[in-house]
Amino acid sequence: MRKDFLPFSKPCVSEAAIADVCDSIRSGWLAMGPKTVDFEKNFAQYVGSKFAVAVNSATAGLHLAVMALVKPGDEVITTPMTFASTVNAIIFAGAVPVLADIDPNTFNIDPKKLEAKITAKTKAIIPVHFAGRPCDMDSIEEIAKQHGLAIIEDSAHALGAAYHGRKIGAGRGAKHTAVFSFHPTKNITTGEGGMITTDDEEVADRMSVQRQNGMDKGAWNRFGAKGKSHYDIFVPGLKYQMMDIQAAIGRDQLKHLEQFNKRRAEIVARYNDAFADMEGLTLPSAVEAGCVHSWHIYTPLINSDKTGFTRDAFMEKMKQYNIGTAYHYQAVHLFSAYAKITGLKKGDMPVAEEIGEKIVSLPLFPAMTDQDVEDVVEAVKAVCK
Ligand SMILES: Cc1ncc(COP(=O)(O)O)c(C=O)c1O
Repeated sequence: MRKDFLPFSKPCVSEAAIADVCDSIRSGWLAMGPKTVDFEKNFAQYVGSKFAVAVNSATAGLHLAVMALVKPGDEVITTPMTFASTVNAIIFAGAVPVLADIDPNTFNIDPKKLEAKITAKTKAIIPVHFAGRPCDMDSIEEIAKQHGLAIIEDSAHALGAAYHGRKIGAGRGAKHTAVFSFHPTKNITTGEGGMITTDDEEVADRMSVQRQNGMDKGAWNRFGAKGKSHYDIFVPGLKYQMMDIQAAIGRDQLKHLEQFNKRRAEIVARYNDAFADMEGLTLPSAVEAGCVHSWHIYTPLINSDKTGFTRDAFMEKMKQYNIGTAYHYQAVHLFSAYAKITGLKKGDMPVAEEIGEKIVSLPLFPAMTDQDVEDVVEAVKAVCK
């Protein structure tokens, strides 16, 4: 058994990024500035969007995107298999969250169930690319087109994922955005941070302004030699912009993304091979043809009827082997706050509820050594023997 604890995730930040952070601190320009603008430009180019707006978390990005695309009282449909942020963004924009259950094979929102939830008040859809596996965007875009709905892709897990030849986050015209997270467990990190991409100039402008208290777009530069000291406030906003000390990490991380995701995919291939015959686990199904998975997390299901113990017991047993695991996610409507807000109860989203009881995330991060991976394999086999 390994001596040290292997966490479920750990970021991998280069010395060059650390030096660039120090440069920002020494230069005295710590807040949003030229490095953030540079990171935005590189990010937009990478995913294939016209605009990228850097923010201090995906939660902030989702909030800005929902505020830009819907009005208070509008309904927004999303999945129960997500982090609280997705639903919080809808609520804090004054809109009404409506949940549609997931597909048992992909764990992504089921387009048929989504369509069944549309009313005259529905104005937007937030599909979540769970674990980095692209949603059925052809069906979702068709539904959005028919009903005149905006799309906000919660791409917190999906940096580097692709759908039929285009990167997740690529611009898809008007009333479309995608939001990425740079939390330390994500495919790239800035500590905390996020990015919104879009081709819709009006939406990009509104989000840029609202991320900095409503000050006009160039206002971050007002203390610079060429900056304007006066600015206008067009619309009230929030304090959501990224800092240059975060962008210094992010722009370097982006250079390593493809390599990071390649290593993630290699580890997944080893897990799939090692666990293929284990009855106690249901492994993630093969990704759809034409799609690239970004493998933010690797999430088998624990089949208690075969193992004789629950997912929570599995997580405890893994700790005894010095292996960390995590849990993504309990179906969101089962949290008391959202049960109250949505009026949903246990039994209303049966697929997400069942998966939420069985799902576990095994260690997966690019800096894992082959020995780390084998330690996980050995522990899972010992626990589920
Ligand atoms: C699906 C999903 N959406 C949104 C978020 C929020 O991201 P952030 O922590 O950057 O606010 C997360 C974070 O884990 C997430 O998993």
